[in-house]
Amino acid sequence: MPQLVLPVIAPGSLSHTPQPVLTSERSLLLRPWRREDAPMILDAFKDPGTRHWHARTVDSIGEAEELIEGYAQGWRSESSATWAVVTAADEVLGRVALRGIDRAAGEAEVAYWMRAAARGRGAATAGVRTLSAWAFGVGLHRLYLNHSTMNEASCRVAEKAGFALEGTRRSAHLHADGWHDMHLHALISPSP
Ligand SMILES: CC(C)(COP(=O)(O)OP(=O)(O)OC[C@H]1O[C@@H](n2cnc3c(N)ncnc32)[C@H](O)[C@@H]1OP(=O)(O)O)[C@@H](O)C(=O)NCCC(=O)NCCS
Repeated sequence: MPQLVLPVIAPGSLSHTPQPVLTSERSLLLRPWRREDAPMILDAFKDPGTRHWHARTVDSIGEAEELIEGYAQGWRSESSATWAVVTAADEVLGRVALRGIDRAAGEAEVAYWMRAAARGRGAATAGVRTLSAWAFGVGLHRLYLNHSTMNEASCRVAEKAGFALEGTRRSAHLHADGWHDMHLHALISPSP
C-alpha cells in the first residue's frame, strides 16, 4: 500500500556506524557496554532498589554477559541503544538506554538505572540529557519514559532531564509487589 508519510528515520541510519561514545556533563561519558563490565551489572542488581523497579533480575556473570550481548544486538538491529555511564577513569556508574526504537514513528522509550554507590551525584540526569540530545540529533522526534508513581527518584530524574509529565497510566505495570500506576513523561525534539 502506498505510504503517505515516510519513515522518520531510514533503515540502516543508526547501525551503519559503530555505536558512538558520547561526552556528557560532569566529565562523564556514555560508552557501549563491554563484556568485562558484567560484574558491574551484577553489582547493580544486588541492590534491592534496582530489583524493586525491574521485572527481572541478574543473578550471575553469565546472565550479565547475555544482557551485554543483547545490548550489542539491539544496536545492530536498531531496536535499542544502550550505554554505560562511566567516569573519566572508566568506572561504570550505571546504564541509560533507548528501547523500543520505532524508526518509522520517530519514537523511543528511555530507561535507566545507576549502581547504588553511584547515586545522588547527578549521573542519571546527565546520562539522560546526553542520550536525549544524541537521539534528537539522529532524527528521533519523541522520547518517553515510564516509572511507577512510587518511584520518586525516577520521577525527579525525568523532571530534571526536561521530560514533561503527560499523565498517569493507571495500574499499568506489574512489579514483583503488584500492579503500579505509572507516570508517563515525554520530551519532544527541539527540531521542527
Ligand atoms: C532513579 C535513579 C536512576 C536515579 O539515579 P541518580 O544518579 O541518583 O539520579 P540523579 O542524581 O541524577 O537525580 C536523583 C534525584 O532524585 C532525588 N531523589 C533521590 N531519592 C529520592 C526519593 N526517595 N524521593 C524523592 N527524590 C529522590 C535526588 O534528590 C535527586 O534530585 P535533586 O538533584 O533535585 O536533589 C536511581 O535511583 C536508580 O537506579 N534507582 C533504581 C532503578 C530505577 O528506579 N530505575 C528507573 C526505573 S523507571
